[in-house]
Amino acid sequence: MKPVEIAKGIFDVGVNDWNIRDFHGYSTQSGTSYNAFLIIDEKIALIDTVKSDFSDQLIANISSIIDPKKIDYVVSNHTEMDHSGGLPRVMHKIGEDKPLICSKMGFKNLSRHFPQKLNYRAVENGEELSLGSRTLTFLETRMLHWPDSMFTYLKEDKILFSSDAFGQHYAGFEKFDDIIGNAIMPHAKKYFANILLLYSPLILKLVETVTRLGLEFKMICPDHGVIWRKDPGKIINAYVEWSKQEPGKKALVIYDTMWHSTEIMADAIASGISEKGVEVKPMHLRKWHRSDVMTEVLDAKAIIVGSPTLNNGLFPTVSDFLTYMKGLKPLNKIGAAFGSYGWSGESVKLITQSLEEMKFDVVDPGFKIQYVPDKEGIDACYRLGKKIADAITR
Ligand code: FEO
Repeated sequence: MKPVEIAKGIFDVGVNDWNIRDFHGYSTQSGTSYNAFLIIDEKIALIDTVKSDFSDQLIANISSIIDPKKIDYVVSNHTEMDHSGGLPRVMHKIGEDKPLICSKMGFKNLSRHFPQKLNYRAVENGEELSLGSRTLTFLETRMLHWPDSMFTYLKEDKILFSSDAFGQHYAGFEKFDDIIGNAIMPHAKKYFANILLLYSPLILKLVETVTRLGLEFKMICPDHGVIWRKDPGKIINAYVEWSKQEPGKKALVIYDTMWHSTEIMADAIASGISEKGVEVKPMHLRKWHRSDVMTEVLDAKAIIVGSPTLNNGLFPTVSDFLTYMKGLKPLNKIGAAFGSYGWSGESVKLITQSLEEMKFDVVDPGFKIQYVPDKEGIDACYRLGKKIADAITR
């Protein structure tokens, strides 16, 4: 992709990764982009780089605007290799003596990734750097998404370079929110649910701090996906809403099945929930990717999980999903377990333990059926669904 001038003298020189379909366990059906920003002033700064495989493309993009050797500063907002993997090649190209600006944790973390000596300049929270007519302000944003993360704010233009925050895994030629419109919001939601959900309390604090400091944003430039220029407030407000984790009246019945018995139970539970007028979605874990299920978890109140017992344990996809969800720390959920079994029947107990560890309010001790559900068993599942719907609506 050619560089895009996003404001006078400021270019997105990043790249689209059209073909990536798995981003450390997150399904990226629309690819992603690694955005990097070149600011031309009396001094020239590059904010972030790209994944190492795309280094040459980044350097070619920069070279189409200026000789890379003219870059005076490189800013690393975040150590993770999708944004810093290109640093060694870029620094080699522009000169390894050029200051590499990062947070204090960025200095530690980048040093752990790269053996070569680079001219690190660790900045304090709120420190400024003049480029001539423009000023960069560095704002620590620990844990959004790593301990080293920071934002860079371009004061005069009111542009925020927000690293991972406010991003979306989306590759496209539409570089701005006003071009793509609302179609970008499901991507932003999935990104939040799978990358930032566990940091919700920090996001709410960050928005409070930004409001207190009176920072205005004409444009928010994340390192993935489209740039928010028409309505940066839209994504900030969405982040506030998602971070509050106030679930809607919605239930998910998340399950896997060996010989359809657990599936029959899932269907009957979902029917019982629906009968009470509550939105419900059954999600088979070999038909839905864990990251798409997690996106649905974001605004669901009830997370009902079912698994057959396999070798005295859980079906592997169910273990996988529970581990994944636990790490993302969803709040304010109710839950219950169900499943079929042949002879030992541990799955319901194991799921219930897992839901309790996640601090879900477990609204039923769980329900298991041996081998195949009969009419009585199906009716019991249906009643369990109604009980869950009542717990959601009360
Ligand atoms: Fe896009 Fe945390 O890296």
